[in-house]
Amino acid sequence: MTVTAQSPYPLLEGRADVVEYLVLRGLLPLVAAATSEVEVREVTAGNMNRVFLAGGPLGSLAVKQAPPWVQVVGPEWPVDPDRIVSEARTYERLAERVPESIPRILDFDAERHVLAMEDLSDLAVLRDVLVAELAAGADADAAVSAGVDAAAGADEAAGVDHVALGQVVGRFVGELAAATRRTTLGDEAHAALVAVSANPELCALTVDVVLDEPYREHEHNRWHPALKERVRELYRDDEVRAAVAGVREAFEGRAEALLHGDLHSGSVMVGRRDGEQAVKVFDPEFSFVGPIGMDLGLFWANLEIAALAADALGRPELAAERYSAVAASLDAFARAWNDPGTLDGIVADAWRFAGVEGMRRAAGFSHAADIETLPEPARAAASVRLFDVARAHILTGAAVRHDFARDAGVSASEPAPRASAADGDDTAPRASGATPTTPTAPSAAPEERP
Ligand SMILES: Nc1ncnc2c1ncn2[C@@H]1O[C@H](COP(=O)(O)OP(=O)(O)OP(=O)(O)O)[C@@H](O)[C@H]1O
Ligand SMILES: [Mg+2]
Repeated sequence: MTVTAQSPYPLLEGRADVVEYLVLRGLLPLVAAATSEVEVREVTAGNMNRVFLAGGPLGSLAVKQAPPWVQVVGPEWPVDPDRIVSEARTYERLAERVPESIPRILDFDAERHVLAMEDLSDLAVLRDVLVAELAAGADADAAVSAGVDAAAGADEAAGVDHVALGQVVGRFVGELAAATRRTTLGDEAHAALVAVSANPELCALTVDVVLDEPYREHEHNRWHPALKERVRELYRDDEVRAAVAGVREAFEGRAEALLHGDLHSGSVMVGRRDGEQAVKVFDPEFSFVGPIGMDLGLFWANLEIAALAADALGRPELAAERYSAVAASLDAFARAWNDPGTLDGIVADAWRFAGVEGMRRAAGFSHAADIETLPEPARAAASVRLFDVARAHILTGAAVRHDFARDAGVSASEPAPRASAADGDDTAPRASGATPTTPTAPSAAPEERP
């Protein structure tokens, strides 16, 4: 195995390392009778870690290793590799309540910072599916230049049931929160969970890229040229800055329940198994004990982004369908959480978190491929709309009423969540129209954190 000068533990670099590792951990029998039969494929796609798939005649599994730095950058950006301990611990909790909604965990190695889990490669990352679905129906050249395999995506996208998707994610968040809140655990066990789940370096990363940098001049920030004036205004918008300070206070100070911590559409896989839709939530490495509304808000923002992207391409029915995941997730959350008296506060938190998530995708470091891969002028339109919607969420802590279905001439079922006092807030600022501008080159910046 490869031991670099900078890593205190051996890093998995390729097939030989992974096969040797499977033998070492007693995992080989899950895959093959002999090492020569094992095929290994690296599927590292995010920024933080390395992921390999190992397969053979007897089965397959995924091996994820956290190096002691940000994988795409290297040793010059060190990050605590114990983020994978947070991931493993949260999976353990989730396995007790929602085992069907996470990958099966096969092995955890705290010394080598490796998690071995069920191979989910029969499913597809939700963000990729949403992007490919639009690319397949849009300009083929744009899809190619965005690096999207439109044909493959069309297959995957066909038939995503967004209501069922929302139900799984809402229940996931609700069950995790209900199992780990203070009233369930008792003061002592809750305090112990808060302590053991502390994830300071990854939380600091969230503060930087979600709650701080987008609201001031920072070298990380970028935005579509159509947002130039809005971004200039944002940096001196005291009302927004005060509201974001409130979100940050909640993030840093309200240890309510264990969270996934990074629940965007790159942390969900969808597909079909046994004739039914399968949904798996993965990658809880940002997990910590925080405000319950955060997980819902990140999911809502990313589904709203996917809806805005569809709408910008003139596909309002698809936009409405995508957005229906938001209401479905709130319904499912409310059932699992089962404490109606606290729901309005959680929903208001969630929309504010949706706001900061949306804003960082519009004007921060890490943008959403859903919008970045749109052809112009749709990209400009969606970027402007996202900015305005995100700002509204931050200020109001409420949904923005979208007219996707009405625009399409479809009799609208209310797309915003029903269970909330914040729902249907007609006073929430409406997203503005957009001014198409000159196309910009697709960005080379990474899609997800950091
Ligand atoms: N269990 C699995 N089965 C199949 N593929 C997987 C599995 N886990 C991860 N992958 C693939 O590897 C990619 C990266 O995984 P993951 O998001 O967990 O890594 P990460 O480095 O933490 O990402 P990020 O930097 O976005 O946080 C996923 O997008 C997916 O394509
Ligand atoms: Mg990750």
